[in-house]
Amino acid sequence: MDILVIGGGGREHAIIRKIKESPLCGTVHCAPGNGGIAADAVCHPEVKATDIEGAVRLAKELKVGLVVVAPDDPLVLGMVDALEEAGIPAFGPRRNAAVIEGSKAFAKDLMRRYRIPTAGYEVFTEVEPALAYLRKKNAYPAVIKADGLALGKGVIIAKDEREAEEAVRSMLEGGKFGDSGRRIVIEDFLSGPEVSVLALTDGNVVRPLVSSMDHKRACDNDEGLNTGGMGTIAPNPAYTDEVAAKAMERIFVPTIRAMNSEGRPFYGCLYFGLMVVDGEPYVIEYNCRFGDPETQVVLPMLEGDLLRAMLATREGTLSSVPLHTHRGAAACVVLASGGYPVKYETGKEIRGLDENGQIAGSEATVYHAGTKREGGKYLTSGGRVLGVTSRGETLSAAVAAAYRAAKEISFDGMHYRRDIGRKAGASYGD
Ligand code: AMP
Ligand code: GLY
Repeated sequence: MDILVIGGGGREHAIIRKIKESPLCGTVHCAPGNGGIAADAVCHPEVKATDIEGAVRLAKELKVGLVVVAPDDPLVLGMVDALEEAGIPAFGPRRNAAVIEGSKAFAKDLMRRYRIPTAGYEVFTEVEPALAYLRKKNAYPAVIKADGLALGKGVIIAKDEREAEEAVRSMLEGGKFGDSGRRIVIEDFLSGPEVSVLALTDGNVVRPLVSSMDHKRACDNDEGLNTGGMGTIAPNPAYTDEVAAKAMERIFVPTIRAMNSEGRPFYGCLYFGLMVVDGEPYVIEYNCRFGDPETQVVLPMLEGDLLRAMLATREGTLSSVPLHTHRGAAACVVLASGGYPVKYETGKEIRGLDENGQIAGSEATVYHAGTKREGGKYLTSGGRVLGVTSRGETLSAAVAAAYRAAKEISFDGMHYRRDIGRKAGASYGD
């Protein structure tokens, strides 16, 4: 069966490499794809990830058996609905279920109604009631979130009243985050280790994959600006068996049931962003898709047929697909352009890659996030350029192997965090 994957980053590259292991998999296409993905799939750069009509047209033309819609925006825009209306099977939630990521107010109200543990909150569309609520609570830091999609940047942690007021005004009056910020959620501040859990679901059973930890800040020791993610490790040591059991009972199963009760059955991959507070898991956010760069460690740790599991999410047969986790651990180090996440240049030649975009003679896998191919060379084309993933018997071994591989690669301005996995207990030989 031929497959079309929508998207063009490291996550999509990891999905493609994993589904190609499946005996069911024929030719893999990717729209738009990128320079490195082109070594593993036929890329269609003319069809952007949010181009719903283009995706439907391409899927028909290629006669693919499944379209995997990976990024949040086409899901929230209803790409899966459009594909299904055209008779094309698609992996991912329909628009009415993708709202679990598309509107934080929806997600919070769902959790409140179904008693799923999450931080206390209120929703506001007007400045004065929001400020009155903050004054009455008088608890800082306070967490202020734009309702809609904001490329992971719609969350402000205000450390005092002045910062909170500025955040509220910038979103509700100043149009910061555009329409996404016309409605805001003000949330209690929680503290504890964060855990990402990507779970496959057919709307009935929920199959969590190995837990992972993202590293969102640009610089070591969690300093600097928020980014799309500078690296990941799996499994996440904060996610003990006890926490996992509580999360399954209080969060995962209730969420799937809640979405069914609301007439919004969720099919696909549901991402639970959790915080463990004194041993108890809380939901910080839901995403309606695989995480990036979580996928770049979670899928290499997966022992099982991802394509078969994806098809099963549509057929309601997910419980019969064998899915296991490899022993040991995985680490992914993201190599970013100088200046990312603010301003950066592209078009820099990447040294150290072979013609397939991998490191010759290395067991590490290089996932391409922002690269293009020109004249036989790989050039940078985005902020996050590559994700270098290694597995190892232990977290420390995986981290060491990923850094060893990363050192083989260079481009002008390249920067990466030197402490991926440290907080999770990886030893750096120091
Ligand atoms: P989100 O986009 O909702 O995942 O938020 C981005 C980041 O803000 C999270 O990964 C957390 O580090 C932080 N954050 C969000 N909500 C809270 C909260 N209620 N308490 C503490 N930190 C939070
Ligand atoms: N790595 C966080 C996300 O995918 O939203």
